Formats: sequence, structure tokens, C-alpha cells
Amino acid sequence: MENLKSYINTNKDRFISELIELLKMPSVSADPAFSHDVLNTAEAVKTALDNAGCDYVEVCETPGYPIVYGEKIIDKTLPTVLVYGHYDVQPADPVELWDSPPFEPVIKKTELHPDGAIFARGACDDKGQMFMHVKALEYMTQNNQLPCNVKFMIEGEEEVGSESLEWFILNNREKLSNDVILISDTGMIANDVPSITTGLRGLSYVEVEVVGPNRDLHSGLYGGAVANPINILNKMIAGLHDVNNRIKVPGFYDKVEELSIEERSEMAKAPFSLETYKSSIGIEDVYGEKGYTTNERNSIRPTLDVNGIWGGYIGEGAKTVIPSKAYAKISMRLVPHQDWKEISELFQAYFESLAPKGVKVIVKPHHGGYPYVTPIDSLGYQAASKAYQATFGKVPIPQRSGGSIPIVSLFEQELKSKTILMGFGLNSDAIHSPNEHYGIWNYLKGIETIPYFYKYFTELNK
Ligand code: BES
Ligand code: MN
Ligand code: MN
Repeated sequence: MENLKSYINTNKDRFISELIELLKMPSVSADPAFSHDVLNTAEAVKTALDNAGCDYVEVCETPGYPIVYGEKIIDKTLPTVLVYGHYDVQPADPVELWDSPPFEPVIKKTELHPDGAIFARGACDDKGQMFMHVKALEYMTQNNQLPCNVKFMIEGEEEVGSESLEWFILNNREKLSNDVILISDTGMIANDVPSITTGLRGLSYVEVEVVGPNRDLHSGLYGGAVANPINILNKMIAGLHDVNNRIKVPGFYDKVEELSIEERSEMAKAPFSLETYKSSIGIEDVYGEKGYTTNERNSIRPTLDVNGIWGGYIGEGAKTVIPSKAYAKISMRLVPHQDWKEISELFQAYFESLAPKGVKVIVKPHHGGYPYVTPIDSLGYQAASKAYQATFGKVPIPQRSGGSIPIVSLFEQELKSKTILMGFGLNSDAIHSPNEHYGIWNYLKGIETIPYFYKYFTELNK
């Protein structure tokens, strides 16, 4: 791989402009108004895989958005790496908070990205990170450096719960057979502190509705005598945590994996500045479950958060009204060995029990997913660790992330292989937020590191 660096250097402008073209496509899976663009993006990914040297590429129809499948099988006796990523993106709203239009990518320097970063929805999550794998494949096929077989599975519904992917996996186990699954859809600690994600949290997402009187009422004529759904909803939400910020849903913590003191002190060695953390998001102090550090709170501990709350009158001026209904969206991040379906049920039972007689409560479970942890002694982890050492000159730190990629636990269950999460994003890259961006340095470093993973994974399998 002597020419890897020079290949990247020679081709980097094209690598960047190809990614920019992909980022111009608004593949927002949540909003049907963009369905045409989502489908076009699948076609663009297919073309990119074709051009990168896959022998066979297919846009696979599903009940929802298609999955782009590609492969290059060089020798059936060699190991197979299955790359997963997603070409769909989060909605860009609120668009007015972006400094430049979300689907008109621009390159700007930032403090953490002195070489420049591409600003666009999906730049880091996940088009930029997914595309590193396409370009790494291009390098390997063009330079006779592909040491094993490779399959790609790029979906278009990750941001809305991967429903079709679940269907696809259950129906294509043979086609997707592999020795390791490789994903770049997470982050790392810092550009000079490489890390490999060893855990993802699970998720239970529910929507709640509190229904009071059969219509909005005059708040003078009826006020004080009927339960106001918004007042009640807020009381109920306030009843979900105790004074130590522990979640009060009975049974919620029953299956939570408690880490040993040794594991926790190992985790605490990862470099972290609380001051930088606070100032980067503009808060005076952190807040969370008593007895745990910030890093523990957002990785090995479960959470319950309201994501949105609405109801009543929110227009200009004042309207004196007792609303008929109030709503909230609530997410719970789960850790090993919590079962999201069970947690959703426990939540529902407890939440309903909090309601006074004067209102009706409806809890609608949405999607969910299981947590994931991967050991650091697997061949895949070892290969990834050696790859980072080759390109960063440092041993990467294993780190559990607070985010979720719910489909990963299903991969292990159905395809019987480990997933390695080689993410190159930074927490400050603003994924899901206005002004999402991805560092050019990170993009190119990913393209450089991935071929080493293939090399070491193949060698370790011998
Ligand atoms: N790529 C993210 C997940 C992620 C980001 C994990 C950074 C670790 C570090 C993924 O696209 C995502 O946003 N997942 C959702 C869940 C999904 C069901 C909508 C999440 O974590 O909220
Ligand atoms: Mn993602
Ligand atoms: Mn995402």
C-alpha cells in the first residue's frame, strides 16, 4: 500500500467533488415530499459502486426505500467484509438556522477542522462516512490491493427506523453472508485521539397523548374545575424522574448491566474535558443521574427524554383556552441488557398509572432497537485497531457511544457476525443539527484507514 497516500493526494479534489454531488441530493427519508430525491440518491450510490469496481450492483426494491447492494467477490475461500451505511439523511429543519443552504454544500474552515469541512445535511451522517468506503474500494480495485471479498449494503431508511432493512436481512441471509460487518456511522474522540466505537445504545420511542374535555374550553368558564391536559401532561412527565435523576418507571433498571469498578476506571482514562464539553454546547453545568460521570451518563446509563411537546394555543397574542389535548414524543436510550419492547410496555403501564381520572392517556409505541456491545478481542476489532495504528500512529481507544444504530444488533442475531464501528466524525460535527459538517481531513483519513482494515482482517484470518 505504498501508493495509498499518493493515490489519495492525487485524487482528493475529485473525492471531495463527488461527495459534494451526493450531498446536493436531499434524501430526507422522513418526509414524503422528498421521495423522488431519496430514490435518485439510491441510483447515484449504485453508479458510485459500479465506478468503484464492484462486479455486481443492484438497487433492491423493498416495501419502503430501496437498498443498494454491491459486491466484488474475488475468491470464495477468502473472508468477506460487509459494509453497511445509509444514504438517507435527517430533515434539515429548522432551515433558517443554517448559515448556508443544507443541500448546497460549501467548504469552510473551523477551529477543529483547519483543513476545511464540508457543510451540508448528511455530510457526516452518513453520506460522507459511507462514501469513504466507496473511495477506499476504488483505491483497492484500481491498485490491485483488495485482499478479500467485499459486499455493500447501503440503505435509505436508517433515520426512520430501518424497517425495510429488517425485512431485507430476513429474506437475504445467504446473499449477505459475511465474516465481519464494517460501519462508519459513529464518531471518534478527536482527530489526535482516535477511538473505535464498541457500544451503541438501544432505543424505545413512544408518543403520548393526554385527552381531556371533548373540545377546547373557555379557561374562565371551566378553568379550575376540569383537568387541563397540558398541566396534567407536564405533571406526569415531571413524575418520570426522581430527585437523583433516576427514571421512576418500575422495573426500568432491572436488567441494566452494571459495569465493574475496573471497567469504569478503564473508561475514565479516555481524555475528556468537562469545561470544553460545557462551553461547546453553551451550558453552565451538566445534569444527570447521581453517581455517574458525564461520559458514563451518555454511554453506559439509560435515559428518558422528552423530544417534543405540544398542544393548546401557540399562535400570536393570547387565547384563553383549556385545550382538549396535549402531546409529547419521548425517547428512552437503553443499555445492555434492556429489551426495548419490554421497556416500552413498562413505560406505558407506569405512564397510564400517573394520570388522574379526569383525563384519558394514549401511549403509542414507535420504533425501537436493541443496544449493542462488541468485544475488543475479536479479529475485527484487532484489525481495526492495527489499521488506526498504521494511519494515526496511535492505538485507538475503545469507547461506547450514546447514539443508536438499532439494526446492528439484528445483524449479529441474523447474520452471526460482529460489527466493527470505525467512525471518523466528531461530536461537534452537528449531525441532526443545523450546520452539519464533516472535516475534509477526517474524510481523507477514513479513506486511508479503511484499506488497512481489509489488509489486517484478511491477514488475521489466515
Ligand atoms: N449515525 C447515527 C447514530 C450515531 C451517531 C451513533 C453518532 C453514534 C454516534 C444514526 O444515523 C442515528 O441518528 N440514529 C438514531 C436512531 C434512529 C432509529 C433514528 C439516533 O441515534 O437517534
Ligand atoms: Mn447515521
Ligand atoms: Mn442519524
